[in-house]
Amino acid sequence: MNPARGSLLGIEHMEAAEILKLLKFARRMNPDHARPLLKGKRVMLLFYEASTRTRSSFEIAAKSLGAHTVLIQAMGSSIEKGESLLDTGYTVRAVGADIIVIRHPNAGAPYVMAQHIDVPVINAGDGLHEHPSQALLDAYTILRNKKTFKGLQVTIVGDIFHSRVARSACHLLSKFDVKIILCGPPELVPEIATTLAPGVRVTRHIEDALRGTDVIMLLRVQSERLAGMKIDLPEYIARYQMTPARLKMAKKDAIVMHPGPIIRGLELTSEIADGVQARILEEVHNGVPTRMAILARAMGKMR
Ligand code: NCD
Repeated sequence: MNPARGSLLGIEHMEAAEILKLLKFARRMNPDHARPLLKGKRVMLLFYEASTRTRSSFEIAAKSLGAHTVLIQAMGSSIEKGESLLDTGYTVRAVGADIIVIRHPNAGAPYVMAQHIDVPVINAGDGLHEHPSQALLDAYTILRNKKTFKGLQVTIVGDIFHSRVARSACHLLSKFDVKIILCGPPELVPEIATTLAPGVRVTRHIEDALRGTDVIMLLRVQSERLAGMKIDLPEYIARYQMTPARLKMAKKDAIVMHPGPIIRGLELTSEIADGVQARILEEVHNGVPTRMAILARAMGKMR
């Protein structure tokens, strides 16, 4: 079965025009004054992995459009009893799901679901693969701050290897000819990352990565993900942590983004996290209108 119309499985195969249309539509979304575009619809939030921002903003987005939401987490559901992904999918469809939002530790899980279930499936993060709604809300945030993608340079620093956020961001930004620089040690930013999308460059030197950049996107560096890798955290901090002195190397009006959760004292200092150039909470805030647009589009309501 082909995925249902309105599914959002990844950014890689999405056309630039469709992305712009969705971002434009998102600008018209306001959770406090929303038309009930999803009145009476049921949005199932199927979370096989921890989540704070993504889950709460999908839930608020769905509810503000008039939908009912049901949250199913691995813990406390039949998933814990060993039910397969597809059997859980058939079950939530049978109780009346109109949209399935799914986060899963395995790359491709949303695709499998979409191939077997006849309702739109939204990928809320699948393994190391993609996180399309995050890329869209990040693009929305960049456009709100920089007006256009034209001539922009975006620097991504941190654990790119383990980041579905980075992968989706590279796919999206490269469709608009944004210059993308990936920065970090070879274990976290392998050379092969340049093949991710056109226009991607890799550097090990933070000065080189930050010079003349408009947007700095920081990614989580978490020890649980680094098992078996030779990463010395004090050395990472010494070479790559975002500090006020390093931020000065970027353009004066550069913004600092981070999909969260942030680890103060590791990827960035508190001065940066709470500083005037940070857009970290703005990203979270923008997650709601962006996900409203994604859900309305899933139900064919994007005009
Ligand atoms: C990210 C994720 O889950 O991929 N967070 C998010 O959704 N906002 C980033 C991460 O966990 O590192």
